[in-house]
Amino acid sequence: MEKIDHDIKLLFEQSVEGQSGVNLPQCDVPEASVSEAIPSALLAATPVRLPEMCEREVTRHFTRLSERMMSVDANFYPLGSCTMKYNPKINEWAADLPGFTAGHPYQDVQDIQGSMELMYRLRQLLEEIAGLSEVSLHPAAGAHGELTAMMVVRAYFRDRGENRDEVLIPDTAHGTNPASCALCGERVTIVKSTPEGLVDLDDLAAKITDNTAAMMITNPNTLGLFDKSIKKIADILHQRGAQLYLDGANMNAIMGQVRPGDCGVDVMHYNLHKTFSTPHGCGGPGAGPIAVAEHLAPFLPAPQVDFVDGKYVWDFNRPKSIGKVRTFYGQFGVMVRAYTYIRALGHSGIKNVSDKAVLAANYLGKKLEPFYTLPYPLPCMHEFVISAEKQKDDHGIRALDIAKQLIDYGIHPPTIYFPLIVSECMMIEPTETETLETLDRFAAIMQRIAEQARTNPELAHQAPVTTPVSRVDEVKAAREPNLRWRYKE
Ligand SMILES: Cc1ncc(COP(=O)(O)O)c(C=O)c1O
Repeated sequence: MEKIDHDIKLLFEQSVEGQSGVNLPQCDVPEASVSEAIPSALLAATPVRLPEMCEREVTRHFTRLSERMMSVDANFYPLGSCTMKYNPKINEWAADLPGFTAGHPYQDVQDIQGSMELMYRLRQLLEEIAGLSEVSLHPAAGAHGELTAMMVVRAYFRDRGENRDEVLIPDTAHGTNPASCALCGERVTIVKSTPEGLVDLDDLAAKITDNTAAMMITNPNTLGLFDKSIKKIADILHQRGAQLYLDGANMNAIMGQVRPGDCGVDVMHYNLHKTFSTPHGCGGPGAGPIAVAEHLAPFLPAPQVDFVDGKYVWDFNRPKSIGKVRTFYGQFGVMVRAYTYIRALGHSGIKNVSDKAVLAANYLGKKLEPFYTLPYPLPCMHEFVISAEKQKDDHGIRALDIAKQLIDYGIHPPTIYFPLIVSECMMIEPTETETLETLDRFAAIMQRIAEQARTNPELAHQAPVTTPVSRVDEVKAAREPNLRWRYKE
């Protein structure tokens, strides 16, 4: 702990130095001569003010900036629901191979057979992991997968002459679920959770109607709990002709252990960038392939990559398809990484990932239990939620304060205030790629923060103190966003 305090002091001193902006020393670089070939009428009357500095200083400037970034390669990043696991560098090597990077989607299929083979094989691997009959690689993110899947479900019902336009969503759902439904023109009805955090089957039975197109569930859910009633849920839906949609953002907990198709799921999306490791965050890059049962396959986006008579081809002959959902065929770079990741691990490796992800979360949950409120008892799956209710009630320290304090310890804050049904919620997903030492260090820091909430609550209120910009007024920032550079000019 003394070491941590020392580190924080050091960082603080450095950040104070940089607070007035980044001071780059000027270098003596001779002014560039203006070509006489340019007509004088086109020349600027006064010289343009360009920063003048040597490469060394520019390099140092950007290196310093990059060191201020929190990243999976540099920091523990337990951002619940986001699966910020280590992204093996072999993925980058593969994605950077010239045969992949130099290809263009307008090229003749003859010239890009290798890239198409990779897509076809990835399709097959994802079909196998899902236990479903066909995958479309088109969607470019998890949320885009949700929207595409809902369009597929809608097309399926329209094809049957049914106008169902209602989707059931549990109250623990990720915000993108209702948003995707709304974008697709569906009405959303919320299904309650039981006190144990699982889908309330009675509420589901009461809310399902002949107008219900689907239920979207996340399993394990955003509380980190696996809903063992999934088959019952599927039965309830199927009896009324509705579809079961799985938000597969949490596949890291179950891949290789259980196949969604075997649980009665009709359609699901993957978050390739999370589960199958592409560096992601701040809106991209991502890929959200969807997997569907046989009856939904005709409605998938077109074209589909296929293997016919010894050649990889684009199959456009899909008359019931919803068509294209984005330009070209999907986020190819993410596909290369996901394919590399799956092939590098193999079947037992994939299973090992989910085993270890679940173990790490339970280990950490157990270590934090004495200091924070655990609203849902362990065991959990790959993530768990804790509440800072006790810290808030006793010392006025909120989840937000704790998240900010973690930054001073060089740790990316967990997801906070989500799911909405847990007050002062912190959602922690350590992932399988962290060492025991990192987990222990995090637990020790969280314990220290809980103690400091009692002994010196101002520390949490003022945090972070090690960053160039310290605590901002979040309410003001939300109400009066300053989105322009040089706002006051
Ligand atoms: C449970 C869940 N569903 C859906 C999404 C949306 O995925 P994406 O960010 O790729 O659009 C997320 C993203 O965090 C998620 O956690």
